[in-house]
Amino acid sequence: MSLSMVVEWKRCLPVALAALLIVGCVRGLPQGAPETVCDTMLPFHAGGTVLPENSVSPFTVETSSSVVGQGQTLRVSVSGVPAGLNFGGFMIQARNRNPPYQIVGQFSPSRDGTVKLMNCENSVNNSATHSNAGPKPQVSIDWQSPVDFLGQVVFNTTIAQSYNQFWVGVPSNPVQVVRRDVSAAVPLPTPNPPNNFNVNFASTRSPYVPPNYVAPNVLPASEDTFYDGCGQSKNCFGFPDGCVASKSCVSLTAVTVRGDIYEFELRSGKGTNAAYVAVGLSDDAKMGEDLSTECVPENGRVNVYTSYTSASPYSANRANVPQNTARLLNASLVDGVIYCKVQREPLTVVRGRSFDLRNGVYHLLVASGSSLKEASVGYHDIGRLPSANAINLAVVQDLSGSTQLLVRLHGAFMIAAWIGTTSLGIIFARYFKQTWVGSQTCGKDQWFAWHRMFMVTTWSLTVAAYIIIWVELKRAVWHAHSITGLITVILCFLQPIGALFRPGPNDKMRPYFNWGHWLGGNLAHILAIVAIFFSVKLPKAELPEWMDWILVGFVVFHVLVHLIFSVSGIASDRQQSQRINTFQMGDMTHHHQHAMRNGMSMERKMDAPYGGLRKGLLGVYSVVLALFAVVLILLVVLAPIEKVFG
Ligand SMILES: *[C@@H]1O[C@H](CO)[C@@H](O)[C@H](O)[C@H]1NC(C)=O
Ligand SMILES: *[C@@H]1O[C@H](CO)[C@@H](O)[C@H](O)[C@H]1NC(C)=O
Ligand SMILES: *[C@@H]1O[C@H](CO)[C@@H](O)[C@H](O)[C@H]1NC(C)=O
Repeated sequence: MSLSMVVEWKRCLPVALAALLIVGCVRGLPQGAPETVCDTMLPFHAGGTVLPENSVSPFTVETSSSVVGQGQTLRVSVSGVPAGLNFGGFMIQARNRNPPYQIVGQFSPSRDGTVKLMNCENSVNNSATHSNAGPKPQVSIDWQSPVDFLGQVVFNTTIAQSYNQFWVGVPSNPVQVVRRDVSAAVPLPTPNPPNNFNVNFASTRSPYVPPNYVAPNVLPASEDTFYDGCGQSKNCFGFPDGCVASKSCVSLTAVTVRGDIYEFELRSGKGTNAAYVAVGLSDDAKMGEDLSTECVPENGRVNVYTSYTSASPYSANRANVPQNTARLLNASLVDGVIYCKVQREPLTVVRGRSFDLRNGVYHLLVASGSSLKEASVGYHDIGRLPSANAINLAVVQDLSGSTQLLVRLHGAFMIAAWIGTTSLGIIFARYFKQTWVGSQTCGKDQWFAWHRMFMVTTWSLTVAAYIIIWVELKRAVWHAHSITGLITVILCFLQPIGALFRPGPNDKMRPYFNWGHWLGGNLAHILAIVAIFFSVKLPKAELPEWMDWILVGFVVFHVLVHLIFSVSGIASDRQQSQRINTFQMGDMTHHHQHAMRNGMSMERKMDAPYGGLRKGLLGVYSVVLALFAVVLILLVVLAPIEKVFG
């Protein structure tokens, strides 16, 4: 007979009641599958003439954990997708995933009597079926793993939606049965778990919601066993840099290698509300083309995924990445802290690329973020850090982070140059040619000495910053920042070379030089500011988005100061020409007057009018400019700044 009891009740019951003749139907109804179906799991509906569906089952079989210790219990549940889809009958058994595929473990009798246990293959209670075929949205059963079995099991299930519509061999995800000591802390169904969501899976079909951070009772470093053996029996690495030594990591990983077994432990930071924690194996300490192992709490349990990362756009992709090369051994989510222990295969080939843990050397890249994407993880906003050195995982050593020192230096130098010294240098050249007249530094007019000093500084900082970023990246990358930046650097590089060939003050080429020098300098300045705006978007820079507003503030301030200088310059010119006309006319040649009106250098004894205003404004401008530069440099150097105050 059958899962014929599995009969669609709406159909079978009225018929049975009416005729009392459809024997198979009525007799089977309250009893579930008989033991003759132990092997085939096929219901003998209509004498075997009704065949199982070939379509994908609208029902799923899920387990409360993907790993269980020997002799321990986990909860299995069968339910519809979408939730609420009813089914009538079912039969379930756990089988060894590998030959000889025997039935393993034992189901616990259900308290409410909705499940009937069966003895298949001469073993007690190792399969379960329904005790009545009434419509049900879900069934949950506890299953105890055998004490003498190690390996993977799959819950193999037959589910009948109706009398003539049923699916045979619907599998669960594999469950790893491990030695008990290894799984001591696998969250198991307990009546009232404290802040531990990984239980009673039957009732947690809702999407994952990060559990709230509860109490700041971080383990004292001395009691945190995660760090035991770091640098001795396992390689530990996490962020912030240097946190392993002080046992104060926000997120961290530990890699233990025993023979050919590669175990990765991962833990997210307490209070970070992490949606995932991941470790990447990378050739170059940068995101992109890395093998990433992610632990992600989902639907009531922690899952492990393998991804291949890409640098443009920044992403971690699971498509076409073998998921069977990583196996979850232990996992928990307690007080929002994700912990998992994953065993990786020694060799993983992703899209033709081999990750050979035995022979290869890799940088470890720890990352954690607060969001998930469809079949992927979100941006690592909580943090990430690559190890400075590539290591062979089996060689235990002290690891420290790649410091981002060069990236930060690049940013700091460029900001000092283009927010700081360039802005001042331009102001001197444009508005101070007729101030401090007569006083000289190193044999040059004041304005020129200052202009040259600031611009030489800009030039040196820019060239240094550009070399630094090449040392860091070692290859060309093309995006808005790098392109505007490159044009800036070229213009900047050419400016002093042009200045070397400056024609004499009276040369007829001099106006062309002035014009070209002015254009090159200002173009470089504008492009540099644009490039700084673009840098805020670069993931590598880890800059806060609100840095844009500080930059906008700088631009507004800068333009405002130029306006005031220009207006005062016009006023000054007007007064100046009066002065010339009334007092100095007789002394001056026509040529000198002409030169003076054009603001060109000439020997004079007197500042243009409003010198005091210009000097005062310059003082204010310098102070505010310095403040802008300092704030921006701090943002770059301390990036990500949120971590400093967070
Ligand atoms: C599940 O049961 C069906 C029917 O006995 C069988 O064909 C299939 O191989 C089983 N699957 C597993 C994973 O044991
Ligand atoms: C098997 O299940 C029945 C209930 O269906 C229960 O009474 C019995 O004690 C179980 N046997 C074992 C060995 O657990
Ligand atoms: C399993 O994970 C828990 C942390 O959630 C830990 O306390 C326990 O020691 C782990 N078991 C092993 C063997 O690593």
